[in-house]
Amino acid sequence: MKNNIILIGFMGAGKSCVGEQLARKLSYKFCDSDKLIEKKSGQTISQIFEKYGEEYFRNMETSLLEDMQTSLNNAVLSTGGGMPLREQNMRLLRELGFVVYLKASRETTIKRLKGDKSRPLLRGDDFEQRVDRLLAARIPVYEKAAHRVIETDDKSINQIVALIMEEWAAIIDKEG
Ligand code: S3P
Repeated sequence: MKNNIILIGFMGAGKSCVGEQLARKLSYKFCDSDKLIEKKSGQTISQIFEKYGEEYFRNMETSLLEDMQTSLNNAVLSTGGGMPLREQNMRLLRELGFVVYLKASRETTIKRLKGDKSRPLLRGDDFEQRVDRLLAARIPVYEKAAHRVIETDDKSINQIVALIMEEWAAIIDKEG
């Protein structure tokens, strides 16, 4: 397995917070796919969705993952919530390293995302139904894509980070 840890999961699951802290503790590089796409394109995610549509954004995600296959090393990568949806991306993610699904409950997800303006897929007045629809479609995908699922509701960021570090140490140990 490559020397990277990949965090996947729904919007608001804490991928960036956990990823940053995890990278700091391991002295790994921290990468955030949304931030890298924004930097590369010079536009925000919302602008990309508005101007070019979701498919275009998904192509940018795939191309970022392809580039990373040769360049990412000793890194923690936090991904946008839709990253594993494409079969191809799922495979690329698993080839990139240890994939951890941060799983938050529906209630926590709704609490964290209510009023959010930065996520194009959640705009509109039927916010809760949108979340429900997306969660129903995505939970099985996240579970299939992940090497490990961590339920995050009852855990602090520190506890989640510690859990991932434990698992990672065991993997490194086993692989020698
Ligand atoms: C998306 C999640 C967002 C961002 C974009 C699409 C999704 O990232 O990539 O708005 O499809 O779930 P976060 O999961 O970091 O919010």
